[in-house]
Formats: sequence, C-alpha cells, structure tokens
Amino acid sequence: MERLIENDNVKKSRIPARLDLAQSGTGLVLGLFMWVHMMLVASILLGKGSFNFVAKFMELSFLSSTGEGFPAAVFFAVLGVFTLFIIHALLGVRKFPISWKQHAIIRQQMGMMKHDDTNLWYIQVVTAFIMFFLGSVHLFIMLTHPGQIDPYLSADRVISSNMWPLYLILLFAVELHGTIGLYRLCMKWGWFTGDDYRASREKLKMWKKRLTIFFLTVGLLALLVFSIIGIRHKDQAGERYMPHATVEAVDAAPADEQDTE
Ligand code: HEM
Repeated sequence: MERLIENDNVKKSRIPARLDLAQSGTGLVLGLFMWVHMMLVASILLGKGSFNFVAKFMELSFLSSTGEGFPAAVFFAVLGVFTLFIIHALLGVRKFPISWKQHAIIRQQMGMMKHDDTNLWYIQVVTAFIMFFLGSVHLFIMLTHPGQIDPYLSADRVISSNMWPLYLILLFAVELHGTIGLYRLCMKWGWFTGDDYRASREKLKMWKKRLTIFFLTVGLLALLVFSIIGIRHKDQAGERYMPHATVEAVDAAPADEQDTE
C-alpha cells in the first residue's frame, strides 16, 4: 500500500512524484530511441542496399544460415516501443488542459507572461496530441507488418499506401516534441547544467535548436528519397527488393538467350 507522509494533518502522497519520474524515464528512452530510429531510416540516403542491410540486420538475419530474417524480432521491438509509447502518453495526459476554459486561461497567461519555457511546454502538449494519433497508426502498421520493411516495400508504403502526409506531420511533431522533451529533462534534473543557470539554459537551448534542425533535415531528405523511389516503383508496388536481382535474372535466363548476348 502507498505510504503516506503525515505532517500537520496533511497527507502527502508520493504517487505524483513517482509518476513524474516514470514519465521522465519513458520520455528519455523514447527520445533517444527516436534519434536512433531516424538514423536507421536515413540509411536510405546512402542507397537502397544500405537500407536493406539495416532492415535485414534488424530482423537478425545474421543469425540464420540462409540469410532469411526473423520478422518476430521486429514485432517484439515494436511491441516494446508501443508499450512505452502508451505508458508515456497515459502519464502525460495528467498534465493536459481538460476543458476549453482551462485551455483559454493557459493561452491568456502565456500571452501575458511571454515566457519561453512555458511556450515550449505548450508546443509539447500540442505535438503530444498529434503524436498520440499519428504515432499509433504508424506503430500499429509496423506491428502488423514486421516482415514488410525493405527499400521498395517502405517506399511503396510512403507513396502507394499514401502514408507520406502522415509521416510529414508526424516527423515535425516528433522532432519538436523529442528535443523539447530532452531539453526540459536536462533543466528539470540538472543534467549538463553548470553553476551558471542562465548560461547553461542558453547553451542547452542552442543544442535543442541544432538537433531539431539536424533531425528534421535528415528526416525530410529521407522522406523525399522514399517518395522518389515510391513514385518510380508505383507500377510494381508490393514487389520486394531483390539485392541480387540483376545477377539472378541473367543466371535464370535460358541458355540460348545468354549465348546470343
Ligand atoms: C520499433 C518501432 C518502430 C519501427 C520498427 C519503425 C520503423 C519505421 C520505418 C521502417 C520507417 C520507413 C517508412 C516505412 O517503412 O513505412 C519509419 C518511418 C518513420 N517513423 Fe518509425 N518506426 C518505429 C517507431 C516510430 C515511432 C515511435 C515514431 C514516432 C512516434 C516513428 C516515426 C516515424 C516517422 C516520422 C517516419 C518518417 C521518417 C522520414 O522518412 O522522414 N516511428 N519508421
């Protein structure tokens, strides 16, 4: 049972502090995961072969003698991230304005205070709301199609399955939410903050801005490359990427065809 601290007849519960800690912990893991996720997705910028290598690696294909992957590995990874995502969202909902009136008061006070960190908090609430819906759609699709990640299948999802508008909005929401969240964590728990509070705050803000721009640029470029591949592959949508397709095609051709070449 939850221990209550009794002091002058006021009972203080430790639950809110623990929920706050859990929210910070899940936020930290998800924020760092998103940086890794973006770099893995951005391997498409190095070519279809690189993205395919990453996708197969995530399926632990190096463990099988045939080179076939294990989509179950991706399934369990997505399940883990999805669970954290839901827990983090549930913990975050506690801090949402719960009525239009509350929201209006917050907006009015923001207008009066013109306080940078309060504005950042508001951006986090709005982006959290967006991510709650769009992130769930993406995670559900990944959960139910764990073996369907390769340069063509991913690009087909972006173009032929019309996921690009969702990814575009989600990308902005996730990058703003993630970097603001990590900045607020540093301020809250005193990470990377020196003796001079003001100077450290400015320094962290500068890093937040740089990281947002970096990950947004990488994400937008990756989305552009997926879109180009997806448009070119539209007529063969749903066909897998074959790394050695050209060599195999020549090998498979009838002998007389090969002789005439
Ligand atoms: C283990 C969990 C996850 C896996 C396996 C995964 C996988 C992928 C893959 C393969 C793509 C490339 C496009 C596609 O194939 O459809 C992608 C793109 C994307 N994912 Fe995830 N994802 C995961 C979690 C998340 C989460 C939690 C978010 C944010 C809430 C997210 C946001 C995005 C965004 C914004 C893009 C578009 C990136 C771009 O090209 O700019 N993903 N993801």
